[in-house]
Amino acid sequence: MTVNRGSQIREGKAKILYQTDRPGTIIQYFKDDATAFNALKKGQIKDKGILNNAISCWMFKHLEKSGVKTHFLERLSDREMLVKKLEIIPVEVVIRNRATGSILKRLGLAKGRPFQPPLIEYFYKSDELSDPLIGETHIAYFKWATDEQLAFVRAQAFKVNDCLCRVCDEVGLELIDFKLEFGLDEKDEVLLGDEFTPDGCRLWDKKTGEPMDKDRFRQDLGGVEEAYREVYRRLESFFGQKT
Ligand code: TMP
Repeated sequence: MTVNRGSQIREGKAKILYQTDRPGTIIQYFKDDATAFNALKKGQIKDKGILNNAISCWMFKHLEKSGVKTHFLERLSDREMLVKKLEIIPVEVVIRNRATGSILKRLGLAKGRPFQPPLIEYFYKSDELSDPLIGETHIAYFKWATDEQLAFVRAQAFKVNDCLCRVCDEVGLELIDFKLEFGLDEKDEVLLGDEFTPDGCRLWDKKTGEPMDKDRFRQDLGGVEEAYREVYRRLESFFGQKT
């Protein structure tokens, strides 16, 4: 069944969302735009949209096979992914396997310190407030999710971690941390939404410890396009080129 792109719903920092003529679905269009520090730093990463769309499609398909419920339906084109329309829970769920990024200064931790078991954190999705750290009490108090939904989100997030740590390990990468977003579909079912790409996770090369993700852009480390392409190339060989 073909699906046609309708009017634009919203343009985000890295994606544009469009209506479609298939009920209950939307299109995520992946751009090459890159931002960091709540869009204080802006740039472009050549072909990022194409690479991220493919990477996200592979990851979501794999997660679905592993029992994680996601919004993914199909890859429509180089930059377009068809997904179920969700009402997004305004909480960013972060899983950390090692300390890096914002937690270093916040808690005075050494970079690379392992978290075993992995650590889960929540941030309130708000550009105006720069996504502040919150606890489960805030999620319950402000009714962003029920206790039951939150328990499901937590379990799904750890499942994503187990599943994708294995994939990354197979291709010589260590999954250091990542951010997930969840939402409710038409039937009020909680599904994993958004994307899983090097924009929203940290991947270190297992041999060299070099970052292979958006930290190269955030920290001006150079070789940004090469890192995204290399992650794509390794996953392409793992997933057998199937998107
Ligand atoms: P943090 O260490 O900056 O809190 O980031 C944790 C993870 O979340 C990391 O993998 C990058 C990802 N992330 C996003 O996807 N979007 C964001 O806006 C931020 C700040 C982090």
